[in-house]
Amino acid sequence: MTEQKLIFTQLVNDALHSEIERLNPGRVFYIADSNTARFVLPQLVDDNANVITILAGDVNKTLESTAKVWKALTDARASRNDLIVNVGGGVVTDLGGFAAATYKRGLRFINIPTTLLAAVDAAVGGKTGVNFSGFKNQVGVFCNADSVIISTVYFSTLTADQVLSGYAEMIKHAMLTGRREFADVLKYNVSQREPGDNDLLLRLLQESVEVKRRIVAADPTEQGLRRALNLGHTVGHAFESLAMKRMAPIPHGFAVAYGLVVEAILSHMLMGFPAETMHQLRAYVSEHYSKFRFTCDDYPELLALMSQDKKNPDPQHISFTLLTDLGDPVTGTIVAEKDIRDALDIYREL
Ligand code: GLY
Repeated sequence: MTEQKLIFTQLVNDALHSEIERLNPGRVFYIADSNTARFVLPQLVDDNANVITILAGDVNKTLESTAKVWKALTDARASRNDLIVNVGGGVVTDLGGFAAATYKRGLRFINIPTTLLAAVDAAVGGKTGVNFSGFKNQVGVFCNADSVIISTVYFSTLTADQVLSGYAEMIKHAMLTGRREFADVLKYNVSQREPGDNDLLLRLLQESVEVKRRIVAADPTEQGLRRALNLGHTVGHAFESLAMKRMAPIPHGFAVAYGLVVEAILSHMLMGFPAETMHQLRAYVSEHYSKFRFTCDDYPELLALMSQDKKNPDPQHISFTLLTDLGDPVTGTIVAEKDIRDALDIYREL
């Protein structure tokens, strides 16, 4: 895969112009969703730009939407030398990246993530794709954007839940890195962001994205180390699915935050992860994300969901990324159901 250039800046227009100059394409096509086409693109391009708009929302991250992008590119006679610029959250960067990677066997593309979740996760690391037949990200390819332009200037329009959702992935990255990074992330009061916080958040974001970049560079196609990025997600996905079944969905990042706490408890029980660090994490998550409520009657369903998780290689066993300490992940750790039940008991009591 081509190396992905990461640019952290509050001057997105300048960065975009210099990246277009560097890549020297024939033409530039912008892919946006119905929101970013209206609120973000006018800040970046004039009325003559080639814009392809998809409908906003994860339900529209489909092959049908991708086909509309392919059709628009075909109608405009887009060529291999052209460039796509994806402007939006994870739906746009996943789908736009997939459309770019597959149209005429691959156009170059730039991602400009407009949500914290996309900036810290989806837009970086080369995973592109769409949902299919009821499964998330079922169809896709690994293909790096040529560059990712990351800024916090767009985050002022995000809801508090959207910011918290992205921040959970930053907590995860800090846990995968070390004490200083974990302390820095927990020092930031994500629920009470001040208008002047943009530069501080950009610095934290830069450190966080660097963690993902380093892991992805070592294992771009997720054969081993990249599975460390699944920390918090085995339990998190199960909570997210349970909440969905109860018709009370929770944002992905909230599920990840709760999952990080349960997996920190498991790490303490089984791998000697320090109790003090586990409590610091729990306190931060309780304060900013509250708590996921469930009873022991939900355990069979939660365990079934964990064993069916798409990242779980063998449905007979439930495997986790756990930590012996901050910065020391162990991927592929098989955990007995009894231990998972104990960790869920402790989570409910804490
Ligand atoms: N979101 C996890 C990964 O990119 O591998």
